Amino acid sequence: MIVVFSISSQSRADLLTLGLAVTNVLTGLVWISIRPKSITPVEPQGVECQVIYSHLPESVVSEILWVWESLSAVTCCKSLVIVYDCQCIVQIGVAAKSLNIGEPFAVDAAKLMQGSVYQGVLKSGAQSYLANLSLYPGRSELPFLPSNTQAVILQPLGDRGIAVLGGDTIRGFTTSDQTWITYIGEKLDATLAKYMSSMPSVVQE
Ligand SMILES: *[C@@H]1O[C@H](CO)[C@@H](O)[C@H](O)[C@H]1NC(C)=O
Repeated sequence: MIVVFSISSQSRADLLTLGLAVTNVLTGLVWISIRPKSITPVEPQGVECQVIYSHLPESVVSEILWVWESLSAVTCCKSLVIVYDCQCIVQIGVAAKSLNIGEPFAVDAAKLMQGSVYQGVLKSGAQSYLANLSLYPGRSELPFLPSNTQAVILQPLGDRGIAVLGGDTIRGFTTSDQTWITYIGEKLDATLAKYMSSMPSVVQE
């Protein structure tokens, strides 16, 4: 039996269109699968706080407040913690709740500086960007951040401290935010190094 199979030019055009449509759908599926699943901000759960180390002079406090206001205005940063010379210098923005209702989870500066998160940053001497915090095992060393914090930047302050920035959006900090935060880190290190070394040395326990 002979089957004569003829395709009119109209059907050929239809097949071509169908082929293109299928290709578009497949390309679309690949695109969807590589696109970030969630880039919407997630409101951090916790308590608003503003804890500032009480021995800082006015000028240092206003520099820190300026840094915080700028960061929270132009980046996805919702929480900022600065630890320097084993002191918690600042805890500002949204913090995790402590067991005492309405109070922020206090930062244990010595514990943070001994932990692997700080030691890793100190060793590399460079900023570390945890763009999707839920993938990161070291997050348990940051119990003071709201538990649903989406992204974190760990910025070393020279070799004496660290700034921890919590954001409300996965991959929410842009490349220029990161660069800018590095410069802020250098500036804060210079300010704090000058001030903290003029302080009477801490009494040993
Ligand atoms: C972030 O990590 C979690 C945990 O593995 C994962 O389920 C989620 O899809 C990731 N989000 C993005 C946007 O990559």
